[in-house]
Amino acid sequence: MPSPLRSGTDCAAWRELESLAGSLKAMSTRELFAQDAQRFAHCCVEGAGLALDYSRQRADARVVNGFVALADQLGLRSRIEAMFRGDLINSTEHRAVLHTALRRSGDTPLVVAGEDIGALVRSERERMLTFAEGVRSGSIRSSSDQNFTLVVNIGIGGSDLGPAMAVLALKQFTTGAPSVAFVSNIDGCQLADVLEHADPERTLFIICSKTFTTLETLTNARAARAWILQRLGAKRLPQHFAAVSVNARAMDEFGVHPEYRFAMWDWVGGRYSVWSAIGVSLAIAIGRAGFESFLSGGREIDEHFRTAPWHENLPVIAGMLGVWNIDLLGLPTLAVLPYDSRLARLPAYLQQLEMESNGKHVKLDGTPTTLPTCAVIWGEPGNNAQHSFFQLLHQGTQRAAIDFLLPINSSCGSQPQQDLAIASCLAQAEALALGKDAEQVRAELTRQKLSAEQIAALLPHKIDEGSRPLSLLLFERLDPATLGRIIALYEHKVFVQSVVWGDNAFDQWGVELGKTLTESFIPLVQKPEEVSGQSSSLTGALGYVKRWRD
Ligand code: F6P
Repeated sequence: MPSPLRSGTDCAAWRELESLAGSLKAMSTRELFAQDAQRFAHCCVEGAGLALDYSRQRADARVVNGFVALADQLGLRSRIEAMFRGDLINSTEHRAVLHTALRRSGDTPLVVAGEDIGALVRSERERMLTFAEGVRSGSIRSSSDQNFTLVVNIGIGGSDLGPAMAVLALKQFTTGAPSVAFVSNIDGCQLADVLEHADPERTLFIICSKTFTTLETLTNARAARAWILQRLGAKRLPQHFAAVSVNARAMDEFGVHPEYRFAMWDWVGGRYSVWSAIGVSLAIAIGRAGFESFLSGGREIDEHFRTAPWHENLPVIAGMLGVWNIDLLGLPTLAVLPYDSRLARLPAYLQQLEMESNGKHVKLDGTPTTLPTCAVIWGEPGNNAQHSFFQLLHQGTQRAAIDFLLPINSSCGSQPQQDLAIASCLAQAEALALGKDAEQVRAELTRQKLSAEQIAALLPHKIDEGSRPLSLLLFERLDPATLGRIIALYEHKVFVQSVVWGDNAFDQWGVELGKTLTESFIPLVQKPEEVSGQSSSLTGALGYVKRWRD
C-alpha cells in the first residue's frame, strides 16, 4: 500500500498561510498597493499566451512563497507527472486520467496498461477530423445526396457543455460550416425549438454520451430518431445519425453506422472530454485546422504546467489563490465574468468542470476533508452583470472572489466596442479593488454643493469598501488556440486544488443518487393516482401533478 497522500492541512506551509491570512485580512488592497510600487510587476504572470494579473488579490509575495512551499510539501510535481503518465489516480473508479493525452502531438508512445494510448488517440482523432471535415465541406452527404446545413449535438453535461461553450466562443471561425445546435434538456422544448425550422433532409444528429445510458440524452436521441423516421423512413436514417461513446454495443443497438461512430475511453472524464471525439461538433464548426489549433493551445498549457516554476505557473497560482480565497479568506463563491459575450457559456462550463470535480466531502482515503472544498461558481458576461448583480459585488455583505476574462481584440471585428468593454472591465476591477472611501465621497458631494445634512445622510450609501479579491486573465484574442489554453488552465487549476484538498477530482458519485431516484420516480409521475408510501413532500407534489396536469 502506498503511504496516504498528504493534503494541505498536513503541511507546515499551511500553518504559515493561516497566519498570513490573519494579517492580510486586516489589510486593504489599497494598503497592499501602497506597500509595493511594483505590485503589478510582482503579481502578474505570463505563460503560453495568457497573462494572469492577480495584483488585486489580497495576497503578497509572502503568500506566494507559502503557495510554493505548499506545492513542494504536497509533492505536486510528482502528482502532476502521475496524471500525465497514466497512473490510476481516479482511485474510486480505478481509472487513469488522461485527457492530456488527447491533445498530445507527435508519435511518441504513451503506454498505459500495455497499450499505446498515443496511437489510439491519433487514429480516432484522424477518423473524427476526417468525418468533421467531410460534413463541413459537404463531401459527406445526407440520404438525399445534399450537404448538411444543420448539425444537432445531443448530449448533456460534459457531452454538451464543452462543445456548446466552444462553438459559441469561436463563432468567428465557423464561416462556411453548417449551423450547429445543442440539445441537452430532457423536457423536449430545446429539441422542439431546434427542429421547428430544421430540414430533415439536411440535418445530422450527433449523439454524444460517454456511457450511452444517460436518460436525457437517450430520450432526446430517440425523439430525434422518431422525427427522422417519420419524415425520411428507416432506410435513410443511418445517414443522419453519428455518435460518440465508450459503449460500442449501445451505439450498435441504436443503429449508428460503424463509420459514423467514434470512440472515447474510460480514462477521459466527461467534463474533460471536449478534446476527444466528443468535440466533433466543434470540429465541424471550426474545421480541422481550427480543432488542431485548439488542441495545441491545451498542449501549450500542459507543457507550461509541467515545467514552469511554481511562482510563474499559471494553473498553480490560480489554483492556490482559489484555495486561499475559499479556505483562508472565507469566500465560498467565485464569479466568472468574461468581457466577451461569446464566452457567455464559460461560467456554465466551469460550473461543471470545477464543481463536479472538487465538490467533494471526503479525501482520497475516504476520510472527511479537513477544509471546505471548491467554490460555488457563477457568472455572466461582464457588462450584462454590471447592470444586474455587480451591486452586490461592490457593496453587498456577501463577498465573492472574481475572475475577469479579458480579450484585448474584438471577437467579431468591432474593436471600438471592444475597447469600451476593456474600459468597463478595468474600471470595475479598479473600483472593486480600491473602492471609494468616506473622504472621497465627502469631497465628491461637496463639489456637488450638497448641504452638510444631505452629505451626512448620503455618505454611508455611497462608500464602496473595495478590497474585493479578483484576478484578470488577459489574452490577445479569442481564437481556437487561446480557448484551448483557457480551458486547460482551468482544468489544471482544478487538479492543483484537488491536491491541496486531497480529494478525487475525477469521480462524481454524488450525481448518482439523483439519477437512480429519477428512474424510480418516472412511474410515479406517470400514474400519480397510484402513489402510496412515499414521503409527504413527494406525495404532496405528486398531488399537484395529478390535479393540475391537463
Ligand atoms: O451528470 C453527471 C454526468 O455523469 C457527467 O459527469 C457527464 O458529463 C454527464 O453526466 C453525461 O454523461 P454521458 O456522457 O455518459 O451521457
